[in-house]
Amino acid sequence: MDMIIKNGTVVNASGSFRADVGVRDGKIVCIAESIEAGSCENIIDASGKLVLPGAIDAHTHLAMPFGGTVSSDDYFAGTRAAACGGTTTVFDFALQDFGEKMTDTVKRRDALCAPDAAVDYSFHVAVKDVENGLLDSLEECVKYGVPSFKVFMVYDFGVTDGVFYRVLQKAKEVGALIEVHAENNELVNTLTKQYLSEGKTSAWYHYMSRPEFVEGEADERAIQWAKASGAPLYIVHLANKQGVEAVTKAKDEGYKIYAETCPQYLEFTSDVYKRDDGRNFVCSPPMKGKESQDAIWEAIRRGDIDTIATDHCPFQSAEKDWGINDFTKIPNGCAGIENMYPYMLSAAGEGKITFEQAVKLCSENPAKIFGCKDKGVIAVGKDADIVIYDPQLDFTITNDKMHSDCDHTIWEGIKLHGYPVQTYSRGRLVYDNGEFLGERGWGKFVKCSLK
Ligand code: URP
Ligand code: ZN
Ligand code: ZN
Repeated sequence: MDMIIKNGTVVNASGSFRADVGVRDGKIVCIAESIEAGSCENIIDASGKLVLPGAIDAHTHLAMPFGGTVSSDDYFAGTRAAACGGTTTVFDFALQDFGEKMTDTVKRRDALCAPDAAVDYSFHVAVKDVENGLLDSLEECVKYGVPSFKVFMVYDFGVTDGVFYRVLQKAKEVGALIEVHAENNELVNTLTKQYLSEGKTSAWYHYMSRPEFVEGEADERAIQWAKASGAPLYIVHLANKQGVEAVTKAKDEGYKIYAETCPQYLEFTSDVYKRDDGRNFVCSPPMKGKESQDAIWEAIRRGDIDTIATDHCPFQSAEKDWGINDFTKIPNGCAGIENMYPYMLSAAGEGKITFEQAVKLCSENPAKIFGCKDKGVIAVGKDADIVIYDPQLDFTITNDKMHSDCDHTIWEGIKLHGYPVQTYSRGRLVYDNGEFLGERGWGKFVKCSLK
């Protein structure tokens, strides 16, 4: 064996148990009460520690052209930060160009990602254009290993209701999964115009122009179309109570509606937009009121939220500053790729959820939903994507300790109880006690299959 992790407590979504874990050639090859060292010289003592499957961040935007600039973490910086927060697989949104086949979108972004990625990665295609036969190119992309596609109901590249519905119909036909960014574009534009004309330009009006009902209504509409088309639907970055209720209802009725939320909605409320640095928190959908936050936590506890992901899309302070006098000029998005697993595990340590739930939300469920067959669980035959976690280690997040290229973090000063001490990507140590030890280009493209 290449490595044996001894005396730790293995935590999977299905339960926790004391065991040694043996690794060979990047795979978990043995899990037993005690594994003899034999000729293995790499013995890791995990006494008092938890041994977890690496997290899968199903929602990131690396080097993404957006908001008049490009998000500030490229594929290396973003995946380096991921590794240091216990995330061993990231999904990036590959934004389709007009006139481009979906597989070509993936190949174009993979050419950038492959030389740089420090952990494993896959893609979702963000769909812009389905005309002139491009809708049919979904099928080829599914076969290529990218079976998930996102539609935006907002932004200048958002799709019309009709296109969204056609994409759902095609997904049903070819076995794809459609993700949606649900906000009502017409209402966002109307409210934005109103506030700007009244001289209301601070970051607070980013929230006011995209309040709870703007997202909730779009969630309900998206779910309605998924039901009508018979296709499953994955709602990304769910952040409001009305939407949570719609998801719960649809699940209770037996529909395959998945919901993702992000740590920022669990930690912050819309009050952040009243702060002097409120623009740094600008993302869409925005943080909502306490009632929504409580509803999301409740839904997590009862299992109606399926996954946690980050929506990592950082922009430098100088870029956020473009919107000091006009919230519409603030590039939308925040950093979080290094904070998700530590945040959710710390919440488990505090008793808000269990450690098994944290693992399910951050690792097992994204692996299952997006079809990463070799990931998401500590089990024989799976990739040795392993996090060793010290549940007693106190950690205060400060940007100087983060491994992103962004010059600030909305997580500054947040205190966590418990923190990852080591991350292994396919058996290779990539993070050790504060230090990135990985390698540019180590990460491999993960072919996904929903079959
Ligand atoms: O503000 C955000 N979320 N920026 C990234 C793009 C998106 O909407 O997911
Ligand atoms: Zn989005
Ligand atoms: Zn996003």
